[in-house]
This record gives sequence, structure tokens and C-alpha cells, in this order.
Amino acid sequence: MLALKQSTVIGVIGAGAMGAGIAQVAAQAGHQVKLYDNREGVAKSAIEGVAKQLAVLVERKKFTSEQVQQILARLHAADTLNDFSDAGLVVEAIVENIDVKKAIFDTLESVCAEGCILASNTSSISITRLAASMKHPKRMVGMHFFNPAPIMKLVEVVSGLATDIDVATCVYETALNWGKKPVYAASTPGFIVNRVARPFYAESFRLRQEQVADCATLDALLRGAGGFRMGAFELTDMIGHDVNYAVTCSVFEAYYGDFRFQPSLIQKDLVDAGYLGRKSGQGFYSYQDGAEKSEA
Ligand code: NAI
Repeated sequence: MLALKQSTVIGVIGAGAMGAGIAQVAAQAGHQVKLYDNREGVAKSAIEGVAKQLAVLVERKKFTSEQVQQILARLHAADTLNDFSDAGLVVEAIVENIDVKKAIFDTLESVCAEGCILASNTSSISITRLAASMKHPKRMVGMHFFNPAPIMKLVEVVSGLATDIDVATCVYETALNWGKKPVYAASTPGFIVNRVARPFYAESFRLRQEQVADCATLDALLRGAGGFRMGAFELTDMIGHDVNYAVTCSVFEAYYGDFRFQPSLIQKDLVDAGYLGRKSGQGFYSYQDGAEKSEA
């Protein structure tokens, strides 16, 4: 199966950090995009957020203002999931919880045409399990973007046991057309990147818990000496601790409690406190009053 045509309507569910970014990527590639969130007004605000990001890109001469107007004209806030009946691909980017995701795919199967590809941006949940209760499990695939989706090139195209190879190929080719660098992955817990990254986060959190050094020192060391683009503390503040912690719990459970993937108590504390990182203004660092970041 070839890549989706530009005329294919793309649906995106969940207008948080990832959904908004994925919608932007698809609209930039020329598709009409419908973005839905179950919290009222959130899809519309997410599109306003995309407009702000694009305005910066006009200033940096990456786009002309005409191009940005065209991109924004292709982004639509959807009122209900019924608006997805004409979509050829729907990418789900809601909370990392298998039951909530399954409920969405149940509804989508009753709304979307049989040929519509149903994709999840899940970081860790089994595509095989998501597909298991579906009427047409062959069309279920992982399309896993990285944060921020408009900037990060990598997309993991994840096949569960039932995923049709043509569906995975189509998503791979489409991601290529969207300017991404896709890789195929089988559906194992955490796929590739989120599995390899677990020990990176876990060992950093242990260093902090043992008060070896402060977050800023550890982040600087991981960047400077380790060669990572970001340290574990600034990175998880960007990802969101609710999301990152849920992913760790999911991978830990899927590997039958393997110690290598054990969730961190200091991260759980942050989640319990509502200190979710950049999006809540506080995580390992503080982002109060629009400040870039300071040690919390
Ligand atoms: P987020 O918390 O920023 O956004 C999630 C959005 O989904 C919220 O706006 C929420 O209102 C909406 N939502 C929740 N339940 C819904 C439902 N039943 N119907 C419609 N909308 C619903 O989360 P984020 O960071 O965008 O993550 C979303 C998904 O993407 C998760 O599966 C996560 O694991 C995955 N992901 C996250 C990355 C990250 O760095 N944050 C990177 C790659 C994947």
C-alpha cells in the first residue's frame, strides 16, 4: 500500500502536547486535519497554540505568512468523534491508559469507514492488546511520534500481531511524506526508544534520590559529558511526569515487574503533587512566571 494521498482527511484525538503537534505536522503536509479533545475548548486552544508556533517560524523565515494561513485553514476543531466519518487515518494521542484508549477505538470503529487506518501514538501500550477487541484489528497500528512532534524526526511504526503489513507500510510511507524518519518496530513493551530510555531515567532519578547532586548538575553532566541532547530531569519535565510515569508503570508491569523498569518514588511524588513539569509550571524545575527554568 502506498502513502496516503494529500486529499486524505486526518483525524487526531487528544489535543495535548502530542495531538496538537501531530495535527500541525499533518496540516503542514497538506492534509485537512480534524482535532478532537473531550475537554471543551481544548482543541480550539491547541490550534491557537499551533498558530503561535507557526508565527515564530514566519519570523525565522521557515514559512511565509501565506503558507501559515493555508496550514491553519486546514486545521479544524472537531465537536464530536462523529466528525471523523470521512477520515482516512485517525491518530489517537490521549491519556496513556489502555481502557480509555480501547473505548476510543471502539467508538471509532462504529464511526469511521472500514478502510480508515486507526493508529495510536501510545508510548508503551501493546498494539496487539489495543487491537484484540476490535472488529477489524488488521487496521490498528502504532504511529509513535516524539516530543515536540513538529521538530522530532523519528516515528516508530509499530505492528501488533494482527496488524496488516500493508497498513504498516502505508503509515511508514506517509510518515516519510510528512518529512519524518520512520522505523518499523514490533509491539513489545516500550517499543524501541521508550524501552532503551527507561534505565536512563531510572538511574538519573536514583542519583537524585540518593542526593548525589542536584538536578541541574546531573542534567549538565548528561548533556556535556554524556552527549545527550537533554538530561533526564529537564527531559521528563518537558514530556510531563504523568505521561512519563504512566509509561514506566506500563513497561514495568508488561515485563512482569523486572527491576530494570521499576518506577521511581521521587517521580511518583511529583505526579501525586500535580507537579507535572512544564505544563503545570513545576516539576523537577520551576517554570513560574514564564521563566525558562530554575531549580525547584
Ligand atoms: P497530554 O496530557 O498533554 O494530552 C492528552 C490530551 O488527551 C488532553 O488534552 C486530554 O484532555 C485528552 N483526552 C484524554 N482522554 C480523552 C478522551 N477520552 N477523548 C478525547 N480526548 C481525551 O498528553 P500527551 O503528552 O499529549 O500524550 C498523549 C499520548 O501520547 C500518550 O499516549 C503518551 O504516552 C503519548 N506520547 C507522549 C509523549 C510526550 O513526550 N508527552 C511522546 C510520545 C508519545
